[in-house]
Amino acid sequence: MKIGILTSGGDCPALNAVIRGFAKYAYNNIKGVEIYGIADGYGGLISGEYKKMKQEDFSGILNVGGTILGTSRQPFKKMQVEENNSTKVQKMKSNYKKMGLNALLTLGGAGTHKSAALLVSEGLNVIGLPKTIDNDIFGTDVTFGFYSAVDVATECIDRIHTTAASHGRTMLVEIMGNKVGWLTLYAGIAGGADIILLPEIPYDTAVVCKKVRERAEAGKAFSIIAIAEGAIEKSEAGLKKKERVQKRSETGDVTLTNRLAREINARTGVETRVVIPGHIQRGGSPSALDRALSTEVGAYAGYLCKEGLFGTTVAIRGERLTYNKIEDIAGKTKWVPLEHPMIESGRRIGVCFGDE
Ligand code: F6P
Repeated sequence: MKIGILTSGGDCPALNAVIRGFAKYAYNNIKGVEIYGIADGYGGLISGEYKKMKQEDFSGILNVGGTILGTSRQPFKKMQVEENNSTKVQKMKSNYKKMGLNALLTLGGAGTHKSAALLVSEGLNVIGLPKTIDNDIFGTDVTFGFYSAVDVATECIDRIHTTAASHGRTMLVEIMGNKVGWLTLYAGIAGGADIILLPEIPYDTAVVCKKVRERAEAGKAFSIIAIAEGAIEKSEAGLKKKERVQKRSETGDVTLTNRLAREINARTGVETRVVIPGHIQRGGSPSALDRALSTEVGAYAGYLCKEGLFGTTVAIRGERLTYNKIEDIAGKTKWVPLEHPMIESGRRIGVCFGDE
């Protein structure tokens, strides 16, 4: 059996742990298996850049961050656009056939799964694996990479806490997640943020300022705000993404973090600063929990391959590994539900979510 494997979209810790888990399963359980590493995600499948992997290529990578295969972003909306008499999907299908693959493993997030669904509809034997620090893939409780990023983002908040307290400042820590707020919610609660702003709960600047003021009046000169990259102000809530981007560009803002900091400073008089940890949240070694989870996920993908369960993507429900059909989850988003227990618990301990 010839199996191609690629990692697509933004990298994250634990990609290599998944690759290793899969390879170990495959060499141990699939007779005569050959694994082909495809370079830079769908990019390598489009251009035909790949190499036959050796068993030793998968050793010593359990705790290594990034991806040994390389990755790239290949926007879904360009997949079916014709260029030089062929689309990217057609090129990928043709290279899959040329390589003589029996199966293709795609490790990726929401966009990767949308493109994987196209490949499935073209008759390719695809198995998806749910990767992203954003944790927004529909149909799985958790994605690999998420828990490692929670640890990193939490440490950032911890470190900001001590300097904010020393100076009596309000500090906004912008956490990755341009669409959903899972990472901000978990790291915000774990880091003891006073205010947590998620894309799912549009915030009111006046409410945020009130919380900062109340804390100052209660003798807490500093406040910590965990704000998601994709956080939305109430006045923007009815806008389409394009309109939002246009409106923000008028003040030179991409995210609202700097704008909110300026407002807090002006309205409360509390010195306010912004910290953006950015890609640090995606880098480095995976956490112990992610390594264990990813080993399971990789091995399970190997099992799906062996059993010929194609057109599927690995899912984790509770303690159990299972799978969804790619076509059932592609294009859907797992938002943070407003009644999520972590939000309820936060409210119980006085965390402000910017809405009340
Ligand atoms: O999807 C993961 C993610 O890190 C998002 O949280 C973030 O908005 C985006 O990728 C950044 O992408 P890039 O690395 O391509 O700038």
